[in-house]
Amino acid sequence: MSGLIPKQFIVDLIDRADVVEVVGRRVQLKKAGKEYKACCPFHDEKTPSFTVSPGKGFYHCFGCGEHGNALDFLMQYDHMEFVEAVEALAGVMGVEVPREESQRPARSYDALFELVSRVEHFFEAQLKAHEPAVAYLKARGIDGATAKRFGLGYAPAGWSNVLDKFGTSKEAIERLLATGLIIRKDNGKHYDRFRERIMFPIRDTRGRTIGFGGRVMANEEPKYLNSPETVLFHKGRELYGLYEARQALRSIDRLVVVEGYMDVVGLARHGIDFATATLGTATTDEHLNRLFRMCDEVIFSFDGDRAGRAAAWRALENALPQIKEGRQVRFVFLPEGQDPDSYVQEKGADAFVTALDEALPLSDFLIEELSSQVNMASVDGRARLAELARPLIGLIPPGVYRELLTERLAETVGLPGHKLEAILAKDEATRPVKTSVASTRLRVRSQGSGPGKPSIVRRAITLILHSPAGALNVDVEGFAGISKPGSDLLRDLIETVQAEPNMTTAGLLERFRNDPEGQHLGKLAATEVPDSEEFDPAAELTDCIAQLNISARREKITFLIEKQRLGSLTDSERNELRELTRGSGTAG
Ligand code: UTP
Ligand code: MN
Repeated sequence: MSGLIPKQFIVDLIDRADVVEVVGRRVQLKKAGKEYKACCPFHDEKTPSFTVSPGKGFYHCFGCGEHGNALDFLMQYDHMEFVEAVEALAGVMGVEVPREESQRPARSYDALFELVSRVEHFFEAQLKAHEPAVAYLKARGIDGATAKRFGLGYAPAGWSNVLDKFGTSKEAIERLLATGLIIRKDNGKHYDRFRERIMFPIRDTRGRTIGFGGRVMANEEPKYLNSPETVLFHKGRELYGLYEARQALRSIDRLVVVEGYMDVVGLARHGIDFATATLGTATTDEHLNRLFRMCDEVIFSFDGDRAGRAAAWRALENALPQIKEGRQVRFVFLPEGQDPDSYVQEKGADAFVTALDEALPLSDFLIEELSSQVNMASVDGRARLAELARPLIGLIPPGVYRELLTERLAETVGLPGHKLEAILAKDEATRPVKTSVASTRLRVRSQGSGPGKPSIVRRAITLILHSPAGALNVDVEGFAGISKPGSDLLRDLIETVQAEPNMTTAGLLERFRNDPEGQHLGKLAATEVPDSEEFDPAAELTDCIAQLNISARREKITFLIEKQRLGSLTDSERNELRELTRGSGTAG
């Protein structure tokens, strides 16, 4: 019987495979420097642009773009299925393909996922055993089926329920710490993070629980306690309820972004299964990427109060770079004092769906909001509106949507099109051109994937793919939580290399073969980087990471200052802000 082939086996196989031998058996290769060349077997050509790099374990054709490792070659050239290719390659190398799941050496994170899952079940069982907790959920309109779907649980009173039950060895305690379930005191002793709280498991897109939110039942502070950032849980990336939505719906036409756990659960209770919540953070690029990968319409639902509108505005700013034809971003503002949960409980599902259907398109919200800041009765005021809109419109990728919005704006301000164009164009001329040492030293060819300079994240990923060892001494903590697209993939790559220091390019690609975020890695691995003595990929990478750390710090400061402005800074955040801004007069 054929069980699963352990992933680790495949990665090891690829790391040891000789891509030159595999390709060379089928295609006549010629040595050229460190690499081998041939006329490409995948397209017609007279001069060889097909290159095989033994060091990277990787082949690439500069003519047609085909690329991959030894397994890809077998699949592409011999039209093998993946498993067939693994077996063929193992055969050539004289090793047997293991099949039993139990032979799989556990990856470092597997143990963490497993632990979190056990704790989740413990909380679930505790909920059943604590009548007041069940009564609390009932009083909030949550039935048993909904609680079960979301895996709701209860962390009982006491300082060491989880610690005693799961922290039975030194390693187990380290794992509890790593997942944020316990906290270490200065004296080295530990205690449970979550006590006397209704527990909401936060799941990743594969349904694995990666963290928790915990709500008090009484009127205490803080109302919600969340897992901290851990290797499994990155707040700027996760969306509460997204997994459950995908489970409940065969196809997702639209997604609603709400503010709280209870909003998601309350809406689901009423059959609105397509709600998801950011976890006490603003909506990041990464959230939006994720949402738009799943459907074309995203509706933000915020409170109608000032804080709600401010949050909506931030979401709008973040969404602008992702707007294009066919995508819709809209906003629902509920009456003051209502959130989606209370609204749906009080008015029913139909009323909420109606509110969604009548949601304000992004363009309307943008113009409404800006109009409220100027005196629309005066020509000056209207010109000022155009000024205010200018940087925002500049964020939208060029295309039909941007043109339509410009037209709408021209109508609103009552300026003839060309005058408005002139105001808008001013920005193009004055926008500073960003330069940095690293970005001029390394130019990644962006293989038809759109205009623009590659981002720092993309550059860092490319560098790691080209020379994985460069990631060995990189610290991922400095840029944790940053909202740049791809930064989680970057972190995953770094952590993978650090867990397996002998990783090759081909091995990395293998590791990420089925990762939805990893699909483009092959392309990046195939981009050219300078091949000269002075070019030091590890130093380049260090540069990139340093830049990311600066951005992450800046983001964090902006976020905390915004919170301070809204008067919702906690003591620890105040300290953090002080810490972050200390002696940084010039770093901004
Ligand atoms: P809200 O204060 O709006 O609470 O916080 P809520 O969602 O309406 O919760 P209920 O209905 O009172 O139970 C919205 C979200 O902000 C984060 C949580 O993610 C919460 O769901 N939050 C809020 C925290 O992380 N900590 C807090 O102390 C409060
Ligand atoms: Mn609420």
